[in-house]
Amino acid sequence: MTDMTVSLAGVRLKNPLVAASGCFGFGREYDEYFDISILGGLSVKGLTLRPRDGNPPPRAAETPGGMLNSVGLQNPGVEAFLRDELPFLKTKDVAVFANISGGSPEDYGEMAGLLGDAVDLLEVNISCPNLNDRGENFGSEPRAAAAVTETVKKRARVPVCVKLSPNVSDIAEIALACKNAGADALSLINTLYGMRIDLETRRPVLRTNAGGLSGPAVFPVAVRCVWQAAAKTGLPVVGMGGVSSGADAAEMMVAGASAVGIGTALFGDPLAPVRILRELRDWCGKAGVDKVSELTGSVKAY
Ligand code: SIN
Repeated sequence: MTDMTVSLAGVRLKNPLVAASGCFGFGREYDEYFDISILGGLSVKGLTLRPRDGNPPPRAAETPGGMLNSVGLQNPGVEAFLRDELPFLKTKDVAVFANISGGSPEDYGEMAGLLGDAVDLLEVNISCPNLNDRGENFGSEPRAAAAVTETVKKRARVPVCVKLSPNVSDIAEIALACKNAGADALSLINTLYGMRIDLETRRPVLRTNAGGLSGPAVFPVAVRCVWQAAAKTGLPVVGMGGVSSGADAAEMMVAGASAVGIGTALFGDPLAPVRILRELRDWCGKAGVDKVSELTGSVKAY
């Protein structure tokens, strides 16, 4: 039997699978399909200081091999999360990541202070493409990414994992800026900024015109980004973006990930984590892998 445990910046996960933020709510609905304690970790829907209604509809659309979304960080706010959602998650044997977003570095810092050590890890989301009409965010530029990371680190009482955007010319440069500002880990990728148009109406399929593309179509981009960011920084990485099978999860780890996010696959199959965990275990068994953590960064150079 393969040892499935992994460590992410000192946070022990019983296996590498993490429910990706924005695809799992706060876990309650999925817990009706399977015991969410089978997951290594769970990243909650992106939180902000104050509640947000998000963007107007339509804000999700299917595309071949994936989906576009422009949810716009709809969430009840960090205080409601601590009061109404976290107690349920604490009844589960799963590491809880609080995904946080803000309009300024100070917003992020304040949230880190409010969350304290109530969660296992802070996932600092500097990469949501749905907050302005150009898909930009703090993750678009190294100095802005570093400023948020540094501010959070000053207040954080748990490890800080910065979530990066693929919508940049050099993701390794942004990853390094976060590392130099004190990041303990990285997660990537957030969605690719994309657009589709309904030819009947000639209107964009999303009310915000463009939004974030996720799903199997983005998997090769995610593998490339994980490989570059992990190699450049040596930081532990949560690799995500279109992971749909145990083999995908293994590939993400070989590219450099210590843990693997499952996101859009959940919308087509709420039981995807159960299947992917079984497939990953089987794959490791067949490949003679004693510890799943041995896969991390084991890609061979030409
Ligand atoms: C959203 O709520 O718009 C998606 C969150 C994200 O991409 O970080």
